[in-house]
Amino acid sequence: MARVLIVGGYGNAGWRVAEGLLRDSDAELMLAGRNPGRATQLAATLPIDRRGRVSFRRLDATDAQAVAAALDDIDLLIVAAGSTRVCLACARAAISRATDYLDIQFNHAKERVLAELRGQFVAAGVVAVTEGGFHPGVPGAMIRLMASRVPGLARARVSSVIEVDWASLGVLSDSTVSEITDQVADFRMAELADGHWRKSTRRMKVDFGAPFGIRKVVSMDLPELHEVADSLPQLRQVGFYVGGFGPVIDTAVLPLVWMATRIPSERAAAAGGRLLVASLRRFSKPPFGTVLQLDGGLPGGPDRTLMRVGHADAYLLTAEPAVSAAQMILAGPAHPPGLYRQASFVEPVTFFRDIEAAGVNVEIFG
Ligand SMILES: NC(=O)c1ccc[n+]([C@@H]2O[C@H](COP(=O)([O-])OP(=O)(O)OC[C@H]3O[C@@H](n4cnc5c(N)ncnc54)[C@H](OP(=O)(O)O)[C@@H]3O)[C@@H](O)[C@H]2O)c1
Repeated sequence: MARVLIVGGYGNAGWRVAEGLLRDSDAELMLAGRNPGRATQLAATLPIDRRGRVSFRRLDATDAQAVAAALDDIDLLIVAAGSTRVCLACARAAISRATDYLDIQFNHAKERVLAELRGQFVAAGVVAVTEGGFHPGVPGAMIRLMASRVPGLARARVSSVIEVDWASLGVLSDSTVSEITDQVADFRMAELADGHWRKSTRRMKVDFGAPFGIRKVVSMDLPELHEVADSLPQLRQVGFYVGGFGPVIDTAVLPLVWMATRIPSERAAAAGGRLLVASLRRFSKPPFGTVLQLDGGLPGGPDRTLMRVGHADAYLLTAEPAVSAAQMILAGPAHPPGLYRQASFVEPVTFFRDIEAAGVNVEIFG
């Protein structure tokens, strides 16, 4: 029976990952964080036959030695806590204990830090999967799936609607709030056009169908798409596109948060994150839900919608792809030790079957 340690396992995303693993596997889970009382409360909501498979551990995951000490008999370390320091400490601990690793975080600083550890993952025999979840994590897998079904696919754009009911979310950890400021600072625009990556600031209109209709989106640079485009050279146009948070936040709040990112201080980052989260809780409006839509086509032909993936709960859409990836890691050596992005690591047919079986809406038109 596999044993999995989930750092942040009682957070919004981590708890759903835990629920998915309890449902789909016979793994025993240890949920770790700095306030295990919260974990105990959540565990009381589990069906009685699953409670015995869950234990808790107080752990500050910025301390690599403390994480390593928690990895006795652990097969997989999942990081569902949001900070580069946590990911770095967890990655070092995973290497020191030869434990496989999965995180669901996206930022360029973490990416650089993990890339520096690539050789150590290999030497330690660790399978490390980064950028799990749906955004990043799913767009590249959608393109891989559709490229296998539509021979000659030359253009593939994945656009998103991400409307979270922020007011209904539970407490967010201080590190998650600060991470939100980092993500604003980290935002980069890029798309592949005519086979070359370039900065793109154009706003496109995309029709997502009911209930979201036509939305304006801009490009967001996702490293997984560079990897996918490199592996599928017939693709000449590739990109990931996101909408805004609504007029008040886009025009009044985000510029202030962006200014906070210019001040090199953790307090400024925390203040920027708190302002953004408070504004999101105040101004987010229904309809809520998340959709990833792949539009594309053949050389010289028209574009059409080829695939949609979505769910009303953005956290479920975060967790289920990570649950599928975790099961693939636990299942054994489909890949040799090394560092992978979830979008390239997963076997796309099984991956989309898994998340559909877990309740994610997966529609394939191509
Ligand atoms: N890829 C995707 O699709 C996607 C989508 C959504 C979210 N995410 C990512 O998922 C992560 C979690 O987001 P969330 O919204 O679930 O946040 P959250 O609700 O605030 O949960 C974060 C969890 O991490 C724990 N934690 C924070 N710092 C810690 C530390 N130093 N040591 C141990 N535990 C720590 C927190 O517990 P304590 O504070 O009690 O320690 C909490 O349980 C973030 O990195 C976010 O960017 C990814």
